Amino acid sequence: MILLDGKKLSEEILNEISQEVLERKNKNKKIPHLAAILVGNDGASETYVASKVKNCEKVGFDSTLIRYESSVSESELLQKIYELNLSKDIDGFIVQLPLPKHIDEKKITEAILPNKDVDGFHPMNVGYLALGIPAFVSATPNGVMEMLKRYNIETEGKNCVVLGRSNIVGSPMAMLMSKNTNPGNATVTICHSKTQNLKEITSKADILIVAIGKPEFISADMVKAGAVVVDVGIHRIADETKKSGFRLVGDVKFDEVASKSSYITPVPGGVGLMTICSLLQNTLKAVKNKYDV
Ligand code: GUN
Repeated sequence: MILLDGKKLSEEILNEISQEVLERKNKNKKIPHLAAILVGNDGASETYVASKVKNCEKVGFDSTLIRYESSVSESELLQKIYELNLSKDIDGFIVQLPLPKHIDEKKITEAILPNKDVDGFHPMNVGYLALGIPAFVSATPNGVMEMLKRYNIETEGKNCVVLGRSNIVGSPMAMLMSKNTNPGNATVTICHSKTQNLKEITSKADILIVAIGKPEFISADMVKAGAVVVDVGIHRIADETKKSGFRLVGDVKFDEVASKSSYITPVPGGVGLMTICSLLQNTLKAVKNKYDV
């Protein structure tokens, strides 16, 4: 079994981005500037956004964090988005999801200019992805593709099963794996909560990508021997043996599945770190699209 080491890969990618930023600085070119809007105090969102900002600093990007109370109105949020759309200095921005219930996420997502939508959530970017036209691709599936590419994992003609059909992970993941690209060119099956005979399907997968959002859902008996297993999930579960009182697990029972697979991502230290790299890569791309033509 070979570990798909997101920590090592992400360091490699962050170094590459830093290098490009340095070259831009030396040539007096625009330094990428990412803004993030965070609404409320959700613990997981706070952690994700803090990590995005920290990594911007690490690679030499400018970053701006804009915070609102969870009581912020939809119109106030939209006003800020219009302002960021027009800003000359902000090259890309994100609105961290989920948003409070009184705010329409669809309306917010669609208000972001597609060429600043470095999350790749705008319908236009999703549409471009469906058509196979280069665009901003959602960070997590993009990070998984980068991982498969850098580990030279053969995907052409393979059976790829994607568990989960969310707009930001499962659906774009399945689209990317089925495209005429490398990695890609796989025969893709999407499974979800209504799928029957799940085990029968997952156990035929050469490449199993799990984004179902259920802690340790995938057991060894659901996995084909020698499969490539990519675990997108991350959950805190209670563990009295830890000082913190919890440990992090994915959607896969790592220990028993690892011994059966050819490649597997750990949690933490797998896909999560690649996701941030993708966001930074998209922001760099936004700057290049605007200034380097
Ligand atoms: N919430 C969970 N993942 C993401 C992400 O990649 N981007 C945003 N904006 N919100 C999220």
